[in-house]
Amino acid sequence: MSKFAELKLGKQTYKLPIITGTEGEKAIDITNLRAESGLITFDPGFGNTGSCTSKITYIDGNKGILRYRGIPVDELAEKSTFVETAHLLIHNKLPSKCQLNSFSQLLTKHSLMHEDMRHFFDGFPRGSHPMYILSTMINALSAFYPNVDAESLKGDIDETAARLISIVRTFAAFAYKKSIGEPIVYPRHDLSYCANFLNMMFDSPVKPYEIDPEIVKALDRLLIIHADHEQNCSTSAVRVIGSAQVNIYSTISAGINALSGPLHGGANQAVISMLEGIVKRGGNVDKVIEKAKDKKNPFRLMGFGHRIYKTVDPRAKIIKQSCHDILEKLNINDPLLDVAMELEEKATNDEYFLSRNLYPNVDFYSGIIYRAIGIPSNMMTVMFALGRLPGWISQWKEMISTKGAKIARPRQIYKGRALTKYQAPQDC
Ligand code: ACO
Repeated sequence: MSKFAELKLGKQTYKLPIITGTEGEKAIDITNLRAESGLITFDPGFGNTGSCTSKITYIDGNKGILRYRGIPVDELAEKSTFVETAHLLIHNKLPSKCQLNSFSQLLTKHSLMHEDMRHFFDGFPRGSHPMYILSTMINALSAFYPNVDAESLKGDIDETAARLISIVRTFAAFAYKKSIGEPIVYPRHDLSYCANFLNMMFDSPVKPYEIDPEIVKALDRLLIIHADHEQNCSTSAVRVIGSAQVNIYSTISAGINALSGPLHGGANQAVISMLEGIVKRGGNVDKVIEKAKDKKNPFRLMGFGHRIYKTVDPRAKIIKQSCHDILEKLNINDPLLDVAMELEEKATNDEYFLSRNLYPNVDFYSGIIYRAIGIPSNMMTVMFALGRLPGWISQWKEMISTKGAKIARPRQIYKGRALTKYQAPQDC
């Protein structure tokens, strides 16, 4: 294939370089197009725009492939741990035992929040959504640790990465305890990342929490599966905001806000309320499918469809299997799982969904596992954020380390009024 694409505009021909990725994906490089031709490209929603080159995550949306640093996500979900996968994403290599040990020690060291921050939790109204509490708390870290700009973190990001990954877990558990009016439980140095989180969530002075290794493993696997997903909405938010050299905590806070939307990470909570609604109304799945197909109705089948995957999301496959395993091990019979499977079966055999390549995504089955391990539905997107942190951090690190990195600044085509004279307000 030629190394250039040619664009003809009238008598002029512009040669645009072709960029080729590791797996053969191709892009037309338009960096100099406007300077040479005066034209920009137009792509609302960025469905056809590559915003960077990256060495972190590879997705083939037609074949259902997802790899972190070259390693298939299913292999990591089976053999790795969340902490090891976080190291892989951030440092581009699996850690040695010593490296893993020192990274784990850093996570332990940074698991406590500054005591002054504890009072912040009292300022939120009862019933506040934990995602808003989480993003606010992470943003507040900028005030406590202001000197974490791009320049200072180019050399060593480990301390800051560990603080973020560790403290988000503490914030999440504290936010939950606050929401149910129970005393907070501090992190313990002797517990692994996921065991510590579960203990902070569910231990209580009147009923000590028994840590079940099966639940720890299920949670670890879920976090691995969520750890990165290249240039999705929240990661792009992190890259865009970070490109202005904003403090890393404020940058990650923006990612958390982007993730909270129901079209993105917030879909896992929305799936559960959709499934609960179906069960409550007698289990009529067909009605919901018809509603999702009705163009006059804004309702969408939550947990279905994806901008990149045109086949089953590989994460959904792993999560569905985990869902069966954990429910069986815990001896739970959740009617939501039966409804979810019936929905999947019917939708994936329906012409509407087939013709639009709409299949279950990562959010379709994850909430059922969270329910089984006791995590309430308003905490489910927080769990997604916990998992996605290593991805946001590694994407941020890659972005600030890119030679000649520029501030993100898309253009537009103005369609408003032409030159208009100012008129002072008229009498009513
Ligand atoms: N239910 C019903 N119809 C759908 C759905 C759905 N879940 N998703 C897409 N469609 C339809 C659209 O109405 C559109 O139909 P049309 O061609 O007749 O107009 C067509 O499929 C294409 O949809 P788009 O909105 O153009 O697809 P896009 O790539 O922009 O959106 C998205 C992807 C946002 C994920 C969408 O599929 C959706 O809203 N899904 C439900 C929410 C959800 O599960 N989000 C989580 C995604 S995974 C993640 O972010 C972690």
